[in-house]
Amino acid sequence: MRVFFSIALLFLSLNIYGQKETISQRVDTLLSQMTLDEKIGQINQFSGNWEQTGPKAVTPQILDEIAQGRVGSLLNVHGAATTRSLQQYAMKSRLKIPLLFAQDVIHGYKTTFPIPLAEAASWDIKAIEKSARVAAAEASSAGIHWTFAPMVDICRDPRWGRVMEGAGEDTYLGSIIGAARVRGFQGNGIGSTDALIACAKHFAGYGASMAGRDYNTTDISDRTLWEVYLPPFESVVKEGVGSFMTAFNDLNGVPATGNKYLLTEVLRKKWGFTGMVVSDWGAIGELIPHGFAKDGKEAACKALLAGCEIDMESHLYKNNLKQLVLDGEIDEKVIVEAVRHILYKKFELGLFEDPYKFSDEKREKETLGNAANKAFAREIAAKSIVLLKNNNEILPLTKKYKKISLIGPLMKSKADMRGNWSIVRWGDSDIVSPYEGIQKRAPKGAELIYSKGCEISTNDRSGFTQAIEVAKNSDVVIMAMGESWNMTGEAKSRTDISLPGIQEELIKEIVATGKPVVVLLMAGRPMTFEWTAANAGSILYTWWLGNEAGNAIADVLYGDYNPAARLPITIPRSVGQIPLFYNNKNTGRPLIDENNVSYVSAYIDSPNTPLYSFGYGLSYTRFEYSDLETSNTKIGKKDTLTVKCKVKNIGKYDGEEVVQLYLRDISASVTRPVKELKGFDKIFIKAGETKEVEFKIGKELLAFYDINMKRTVECGMFELMIGQASDKIVLREMLEVIKL
Ligand code: NOJ
Repeated sequence: MRVFFSIALLFLSLNIYGQKETISQRVDTLLSQMTLDEKIGQINQFSGNWEQTGPKAVTPQILDEIAQGRVGSLLNVHGAATTRSLQQYAMKSRLKIPLLFAQDVIHGYKTTFPIPLAEAASWDIKAIEKSARVAAAEASSAGIHWTFAPMVDICRDPRWGRVMEGAGEDTYLGSIIGAARVRGFQGNGIGSTDALIACAKHFAGYGASMAGRDYNTTDISDRTLWEVYLPPFESVVKEGVGSFMTAFNDLNGVPATGNKYLLTEVLRKKWGFTGMVVSDWGAIGELIPHGFAKDGKEAACKALLAGCEIDMESHLYKNNLKQLVLDGEIDEKVIVEAVRHILYKKFELGLFEDPYKFSDEKREKETLGNAANKAFAREIAAKSIVLLKNNNEILPLTKKYKKISLIGPLMKSKADMRGNWSIVRWGDSDIVSPYEGIQKRAPKGAELIYSKGCEISTNDRSGFTQAIEVAKNSDVVIMAMGESWNMTGEAKSRTDISLPGIQEELIKEIVATGKPVVVLLMAGRPMTFEWTAANAGSILYTWWLGNEAGNAIADVLYGDYNPAARLPITIPRSVGQIPLFYNNKNTGRPLIDENNVSYVSAYIDSPNTPLYSFGYGLSYTRFEYSDLETSNTKIGKKDTLTVKCKVKNIGKYDGEEVVQLYLRDISASVTRPVKELKGFDKIFIKAGETKEVEFKIGKELLAFYDINMKRTVECGMFELMIGQASDKIVLREMLEVIKL
């Protein structure tokens, strides 16, 4: 039957010359048959209820609208059987245009991976791509066509709860990671049964919400917008991302959802984007409280004319567009353009050939949470753990530690391991807590003693005494401390980003026992923990690692995996330093001597430096750099230069190093950052071995927006730096860019 259906469709899709019609031709043919109501239907996106299955996943009213062809896409419905049952309603509509099913597949679907910020810490682009690939394979098997990821918002403010969803503070790293995630989600291309349409969000500037308060205003200079916030979006357009989502915030006075400059001038015209543009949830309606539209009708009009094509859940397109067309305020052609982009994707997915293509219960059963996916989740979780400190080489743990005390409110936690973006409630049974992971891995004969010590955020000290006793009676203490899963994420901004509650007090008490203490810090953002940083023996920043958290933590603790992650975002000493990021400007009065802060750009009550810098992270082994070689120290504006250096593993463990290349433009027509990441290479080097690393520096890396906002390479001196972190430069060389 299905074969017959496909052959029939193939004949129908031949044009008058007997050639196969292109997708664009098929879209045009379909558009010519659609009524205005059907066109408006396509640009409505409604939410279902993810707790429900089958047709009950949406309200009876939405079911009815689907059957009338008045809904283009749904979000928050999932599962092969449920999506199939809903698609059947779309097949009752006059033109049988299939629905698109969208979902926030942010860091895994059934198999939960580390939160995106944690994965970014791996600096392992192939692994990050694979994580998105596996997530896409799982979600697409459950009938999902479209994910609202990756979030490519650059964020320099850890108070903002959504910092967990991005790749951190750096534009270069964020652009590369964003592109990798798009490649992963979209796999062999939209239309492959295991691929999802990716969505770049939130366009644009959302990560710069003032004071780190979610949804807040953004005020970003043109220069910073183009240099810092927009490049990751451009990078994913080049990678072929299928959709964009508008941001909630207003940007320099114009809400992003009604921002014609962003959505039309930049995205469509300058970058040539041809995919779909969806609003964020209810964001078209929010143009009213923004003070940008007086009512729903004006909001719908402004958003659509700006280039926001799909209305997620504000219902304002549905209720106002027809009248706006009849009143002559909107030309129907604008709606046709929007519908064209959506239909194109539906054809590309192959849904007109088989609307149930992705609703395959057999594949769903085989794919969701399968052993290979779990194994990969463990691997990428271990790759995401940053070793911040390892005094006296407490780690990796050896057999000499027989009695191990496991302390802290997160030690036995499961739900927290998953982080904030796990929409579908899968239950906690397949999550490995730190306690379970360590218990499984601890050598035979080791004795584990557990004591919670305190809760995550109460002031109850009644558990301290027992925890101290337990610590005193052990050879080593491992503490699992940090935030609960719902302290970061959307609408989870904090003004105090220190370890919540009395957790740092507990750490003080345990450190006072004199036992070696390993602190595992778990959070969706950089926290502040100056005392712990100075006094705990070893610190691992584990973020939220997903289902396999406990196993991955044990892999690192016992040295089965030698940690190699590097911070993708600065960890400040205090909230007062924020925004604090590595690629700052030098100022006219830079701080040169920490002991002389008189009339220079410094604080009188805190160092300028962060607790831990961007790019920082340790290994169980050590690396030594040498033999910096540049093919030339003068480079023409359009030339490419080769830079090489040697890296030797001088420790006793095999391990990976992240070799980081930074550039500084010493003097230019506008002030330039003190350094900017321009390349990196993550390499595995066996103990005692040496490897050579090579970078190419060409005009792309040297260019910036000049005084006239023109992207250009200016002549003059540049400092080239190779480092192990942004604040640990080990090799330097001066370069001169010359005219030629
Ligand atoms: C609001 C969030 O800002 C966005 O990132 C998400 O994709 C939508 N809700 C849909 O869940």
